[in-house]
Amino acid sequence: MKNQKIIDMLNEQLNRELFSAYFYTAMEAYFESLNLKGFAHFFMVQTKEELDHARIFFNYINKIGGRVYLKSLNEPKNEYDSPTEVFELALKHEQFITSSIHEIAKMALEEKDLTTYSFLKWFIDEQAEEEETMDNILRKLKFIKEDPSGLLFLDKELSMRVYVQPAILQNE
Ligand code: FEO
Repeated sequence: MKNQKIIDMLNEQLNRELFSAYFYTAMEAYFESLNLKGFAHFFMVQTKEELDHARIFFNYINKIGGRVYLKSLNEPKNEYDSPTEVFELALKHEQFITSSIHEIAKMALEEKDLTTYSFLKWFIDEQAEEEETMDNILRKLKFIKEDPSGLLFLDKELSMRVYVQPAILQNE
């Protein structure tokens, strides 16, 4: 049965995923401006992942008979003091997204909407990974204290990030 309260929360989350893509594209642009191509590549891949997340919510809302509504996106922060600041904000943002998804999952349980709860499990696991990824890089940045040779080493490592489309979106 259609639960409008849950559909509204899912719709809000879809918009948050789109904002995440927008935010990470701004971070990509910042690293391009520093000529740190590996960091820029990392955020390009991250942006694709966020668009995938939005698409997964889009498909699910339609599947359960809801209507997707897009909202306006806020301007993301474009200027940063340092690569460390970027990852501090990226981690903070992922923590916000995690709590937002947890709120929907809790509401789905409260409303006895176990189908949505089951759907959200993938996101709960994904968010743990997202936070871990941002935190790992942040800790490395703090460790090297943004020493130029350390930054270039990390830039090379991040240039190797590979985009993988989630299985749920394959064969669409
Ligand atoms: Fe889609 Fe990074 O949360």
